Amino acid sequence: MSRSAHPAGPRHADVLPEGHYSAPADDLNALDPKVWAHTVGRDADGVVTVGGIAVTQLAEEYGTPAYILDEADFRDRARAWRTAFGNDADVFYAGKAFLSRAVVRWLHEEGLNLDVCSAGELATALSAGMPAERIAFHGNNKSPEEIERAVRAGVGRIVIDSFQEIVRVAHIAQSLGRRQPVQIRITVGVEAHTHEFIATAHEDQKFGIPLAGGQAAEAVRRALQLDGLEVIGIHSHIGSQIFDMSGFEVAAHRVVGLLKDIRDEHGVELPEIDLGGGLGIAYTSADDPREPHEIAKALTEIVTRECESARLRTPRISVEPGRAIVGPTAFTLYEVGTVKPLDGLRTYVSVDGGMSDNIRTALYDAEYSVALVSRTSDAEPMLVRVVGKHCESGDIVVKDAFLPGDLAPGDLVAVAATGAYCRSMASNYNHALRPPVVAVRDGAARVIVRRETEDDLLRLDVG
Ligand code: LLP
Repeated sequence: MSRSAHPAGPRHADVLPEGHYSAPADDLNALDPKVWAHTVGRDADGVVTVGGIAVTQLAEEYGTPAYILDEADFRDRARAWRTAFGNDADVFYAGKAFLSRAVVRWLHEEGLNLDVCSAGELATALSAGMPAERIAFHGNNKSPEEIERAVRAGVGRIVIDSFQEIVRVAHIAQSLGRRQPVQIRITVGVEAHTHEFIATAHEDQKFGIPLAGGQAAEAVRRALQLDGLEVIGIHSHIGSQIFDMSGFEVAAHRVVGLLKDIRDEHGVELPEIDLGGGLGIAYTSADDPREPHEIAKALTEIVTRECESARLRTPRISVEPGRAIVGPTAFTLYEVGTVKPLDGLRTYVSVDGGMSDNIRTALYDAEYSVALVSRTSDAEPMLVRVVGKHCESGDIVVKDAFLPGDLAPGDLVAVAATGAYCRSMASNYNHALRPPVVAVRDGAARVIVRRETEDDLLRLDVG
């Protein structure tokens, strides 16, 4: 998924096994700012600090594994997106990447809106005070109960994903005496260059209504006739962890084309378009993500240009970044348990978590950066595979990386850029207790999601 896949030169071992890894960095103690949260650095003793606190102190106080989230970095990134798009556009943070009440409050304070895709995410958002009109409700199979909760709450938009849902939302809204603002999610037929499981705009998949064959136009036709619905726009999300802006350009072109057809057929100019999320982040030094201001400029320009040539008023644009905001702001802190060199192959480093706190490596072949963080080391780099403690050989956290050759049990290592889709996709496999999320800022740390306990597990097991 990451684009770093250069075979290493045999600089630090006689023969290196096959794999996808870059040559070891010249200085394994260095922490690439592209990959690590903004306030990450090393103190005079070589211990990594974040938000002004040493990871050794965090490990002692909160235990490992733990997700450590840099609040200042989160706020900076959220604000950068908000500022880049300005007041004529909206930024909906995609809560599926990571959602907690603290995060909802930060987003609210920084002027962002929120995309939720389940009743659970909606409940979290509302309980932390996000105004309902700033919430978008997503999902390809929202239950009638979920739709009713969203309508009753007064969410700013429901993003409709199927023909059945047009009728369902209209019926529920009407029976509650409401007219629900909706966007229609379409698939524009773009092949996003990312992992198959997280590409969403090609037609052969479960999300959206295809533009092809006039289906999206037919969906709009039906929705416009229903009193319970106020059709405010068209939605397109082309996939995730995307670096190439051309997919967004094609999507914008096709969405505007549909707006034009709608204007020609119905005499209605829909006021909004949403271009979804999906912007890539740097998991390794080889990744080069775009800055929010470049993305905003590119998207705004293309939509404006397309609308001018179609003689349409430029609609209000919205976007839904999740990973690009929270991804780089957190790392997972682990303690090394065992170090097992396999002659001629690599060294297996077992940490005290694994696929239960980061399923992305096993699921998407995701690449990550890992560093020794409790001290520095001048030892020669060794090729490692960082694995978890689960009963499965696919339990890999970082497939191929270099760590100092003197790595030993008790050392702390951190895996960078685990803020998105790690805690939110965490599981209790092997009855693992899901790790806490600890937010750090200005020398203070606080738990925003606590570690699970055995009592939590047993409470669900009602015998
Ligand atoms: N909007 C919609 C409608 C989405 O479906 C998604 C992600 C986003 C926005 C946010 O995308 P982001 O900016 O975070 O890439 N579990 C996978 C990613 C699945 C993304 C699902 N939808 C992963 O770990 O890579």
